[in-house]
Amino acid sequence: MTITLKTEADLPGLREACRKASEVLDFLTPHIQPGISTLEIDQLAAQCMQQLGVRSATLGYSPGPEYPPYPGSVCTSPNHVVCHGIPSSKPLKKGDILNVDVTVITPEGWYGDNSRMFEVGEASIAAHRLCRLTFEAMWIGIVQVKPGKTLGDVGHAIQKFAEGHGLSVVREFCGHGIGRNFHEDPQVLHYGRPGTMEVLEPGMVFTIEPMLNLGRKEIKSHGRDGWTIVTKDHSLTAQWEHQLIVTPTGYEVLTLSAGSPALPDFVTATKT
Ligand code: MF3
Ligand code: CO
Ligand code: CO
Repeated sequence: MTITLKTEADLPGLREACRKASEVLDFLTPHIQPGISTLEIDQLAAQCMQQLGVRSATLGYSPGPEYPPYPGSVCTSPNHVVCHGIPSSKPLKKGDILNVDVTVITPEGWYGDNSRMFEVGEASIAAHRLCRLTFEAMWIGIVQVKPGKTLGDVGHAIQKFAEGHGLSVVREFCGHGIGRNFHEDPQVLHYGRPGTMEVLEPGMVFTIEPMLNLGRKEIKSHGRDGWTIVTKDHSLTAQWEHQLIVTPTGYEVLTLSAGSPALPDFVTATKT
C-alpha cells in the first residue's frame, strides 16, 4: 500500500483536471432531458472534452484482463444501474434518474474524476429524495476530512447517515486515490468504524463517491457487457462523486466549477 502525497507544485495541474471534469458535467446539464439517449450524452461529453483540451480516462480503459475496454467517454448509469453503465441509444424518459461519471486526463497527465445525479424531467418524490440524500451523504463524508482523522471516520459518517435514512450502502465499489493514475491507493470505503483505516495526511488526493440504494445493498453484474452493475433487487440507486485534497487544516474540493450544485447548508466551505 503506497499513497502518493501530492505537493504544492502538483496543485495547479490537479485543479485544472478537476475543474474541467466538473465543467463537462456543467455542459451536459441542460441537455439531459426526456428523449435524449445516453449515447448522445456521451457524444456531447466527448466534444466538450475536445474543446477543453482534455481526453477521456474511461474510453478504452480496462483495469484487468477480465474487463473488455470500456467503450464510453463517460459512464451513464440510469435508475437501478449502480455504476459503469455503458452509453446506449435508448432514449431517457421523464422520471428517470441518471448518474453521469466523468473522468478526464489533461495533456500534463493529471486525472480529474467526478459524477452527479440528474433527474430527467421531474422525478418521483422517492427518486428525488434518494438523489438528494446521496448528495448529502457525499458531503457528510467530505466534511470529515482533516489531518489526523481516518478514512474509517469518513466511511462511518456516510454509512450512519445513509442507514439512518433507510438507505443501504454498496460495499463492492469505493472511492480511490487519484493523481497521475486513475486509481491509486488508498481505497475509500463508504462504510466503516471510526478511528480505523488510514490516518489522513496533507497532500493525500482521493475521491468520495458513495453509491446508495433505496432497497437492499447487494449488487450484481448485468452480465452481458462485462461492465454494467445493477442492484440485485432492481431498486433505484444513486451516486455522487467529488475529488479532493487533504490540506494542513482540512480539505479542498477540487472538482468544482460554475455549475456545481449549491452546497448543503451544513457545509460552510469547499476549502478549509
Ligand atoms: N469514474 C469511475 C470512478 O469513479 C470509474 C469508471 S471506470 C470505467 O472510479 F471504465 F467504467 F469507466
Ligand atoms: Co472515482
Ligand atoms: Co468517477
